[in-house]
Amino acid sequence: MPTLAAEPQSPHVKVAILGAGFGGLGLAIQLTRRGERDFMIFEKAGRIGGTWRDNTYPGSGCDVPSHLYSYSFEPNPGWTRKFSLQAEILAYLETLVGKYRLAPHLHLNEAVEQARFDEVAGLWRIRTAKGREITADALVGAWGQLNRPAYAAIPGRESFRGVQFHSAEWDHGADLAGKRIAVIGNGASAVQFVPQLQKVAGRLTVFQRSANYIVPRQDGPYSERARAMLKTLPILLGMNRALIYWTLEMRWSAFKQGTKAAQKFTRQALDYMESQVADPELRRKLTPDYPIGCKRVLVSDDYYQALVQPNVSVEDTPIAAIEPEGLRTADGRLHPADVIVWGTGFETTSMLGSAEIVGQGGLSLRQAWAEAPQAYLGITVAGFPNLFLLYGPNTNLGHNSIIYMLERQIDYVLQGLDASRRAGAALSVRQEVMDAFNRRLQEEIKSTAWAGSCSSWYKTADGRITNNWSSSTRAYRRATARFRMEDYAPVPARAEAQVPQREAA
Ligand SMILES: Cc1cc2nc3c(=O)[nH]c(=O)nc-3n(C[C@H](O)[C@H](O)[C@H](O)COP(=O)(O)OP(=O)(O)OC[C@H]3O[C@@H](n4cnc5c(N)ncnc54)[C@H](O)[C@@H]3O)c2cc1C
Ligand SMILES: NC(=O)c1ccc[n+]([C@@H]2O[C@H](COP(=O)([O-])OP(=O)(O)OC[C@H]3O[C@@H](n4cnc5c(N)ncnc54)[C@H](OP(=O)(O)O)[C@@H]3O)[C@@H](O)[C@H]2O)c1
Repeated sequence: MPTLAAEPQSPHVKVAILGAGFGGLGLAIQLTRRGERDFMIFEKAGRIGGTWRDNTYPGSGCDVPSHLYSYSFEPNPGWTRKFSLQAEILAYLETLVGKYRLAPHLHLNEAVEQARFDEVAGLWRIRTAKGREITADALVGAWGQLNRPAYAAIPGRESFRGVQFHSAEWDHGADLAGKRIAVIGNGASAVQFVPQLQKVAGRLTVFQRSANYIVPRQDGPYSERARAMLKTLPILLGMNRALIYWTLEMRWSAFKQGTKAAQKFTRQALDYMESQVADPELRRKLTPDYPIGCKRVLVSDDYYQALVQPNVSVEDTPIAAIEPEGLRTADGRLHPADVIVWGTGFETTSMLGSAEIVGQGGLSLRQAWAEAPQAYLGITVAGFPNLFLLYGPNTNLGHNSIIYMLERQIDYVLQGLDASRRAGAALSVRQEVMDAFNRRLQEEIKSTAWAGSCSSWYKTADGRITNNWSSSTRAYRRATARFRMEDYAPVPARAEAQVPQREAA
């Protein structure tokens, strides 16, 4: 890598990682395993964990079995249940921070505000909320797709006199016992917390805009014996992970429009709903009017069971306004409420985090992505040398584990860092390579369930799918297996200078 000019007070690292969720921490662990310790992780919050720090709502947990929703290089025989809850997943990540001695690299409560590629020096200049400037050979953006809470654009939110909060900012101090609770939204978060709210609410109304397909979760605890076996027989642990992976991967064909697998999957979901809900009117409300997979297919053992309880109702008349006393639906009825829980998801399609990222020629990522976010393999962006994204554009899934995708990206980034060092220059993906990749991706994605007739957090208002990968995870593995130097152009530094100071990690 170039030896470059930096202010004496600017610490310099080889890799600056933005975000300490599964993505950023996974890369930090893999760097450490290679003996590389010259990196810093910036995290805007006071604790690591990303998704698993923020989503503390009752019932929060993964919907991909834990033995696959964890790093393959750090299997955990001790998962206490098939689908672990938030606290156990967060504890898993915190244990790894200890095991790999990542604490000295972690800069908590230090949001990256701006990162600018310095074309003269050929490195990234990073400014944090603490007013520090750090330089780095490479910048890894691991700011996640699902951590900017979104509120539905319903007028009158501020006028509500009761308690209200978003599912990702749960108010654990709120007294919910016996209260009239209104839940807005019925996505993956809501199906987890609604059954918990049902147990304490006086009256619970779920305001549903569109129905979702739900399949049984079949969750349950692992016995002591099962855990002991997985611990003593690593081969069994590996086989178990592979079995889960392939079972989910086989579902990919159900996410292609018009396939037999999609028909079968649809029937399975509707049969499940009908087995749990007897009331024809409620069945009508809960029957989706779009192809399966178009929105995330939800997994739950207790959502329908909660909806049929006497203290619960599902309201599918659109909400017209929030008023001081409750929610007014478009038919003029007022639904009085003491508490509103916004299960309305996240701002997702811009893919931009809170940091301003500025590449060559002063072009910001915001400007580059004004029409739509796009990257090569979801990882690199033309005009942004040595910027690597984790869980970037078009890398989300509907059928398998995001950790699998993150691991493919991490492996690719490590290869990219090596290639950059060998080239002695930052590397920028060639524009024509990125464009051709995205043309193919957008063509392929037309035949997937996501392109069906529904709105979802996967696509923009004009229908472009910005979040999801267009194919199987095996195809993603093949696409990312090798860092092809021919896809990249070196961007050498324009200035010779002294080696920048390094921060003791
Ligand atoms: C409730 C919930 C459940 C989920 N369950 C599953 C599941 O079962 N299976 C699955 O595959 N996926 C699931 N997901 C998707 C999940 O987001 C990913 O699996 C994964 O956790 C993403 O990790 P990440 O590191 O990319 O992002 P995040 O976990 O979002 O972490 C990003 C981090 O970057 C930090 N950050 C952002 N901007 C800045 C900045 N400017 N400066 C410094 N730090 C910054 C954030 O504070 C955050 O800590 C779930 C998502 C949610 C919301
Ligand atoms: N492991 C898990 O089980 C788990 C748990 C939580 C989250 N996640 C991940 O995070 C993603 C986001 O989940 P999420 O549930 O937080 O968000 P989401 O899936 O985006 O759901 C948001 C919900 O709010 C509804 N909504 C928005 N505006 C509304 C309005 N004006 N009136 C009524 N309803 C409105 C949406 O309805 P429409 O459908 O009509 O838009 C939708 O039901 C998931 O897809 C998944 O990838 C996973």
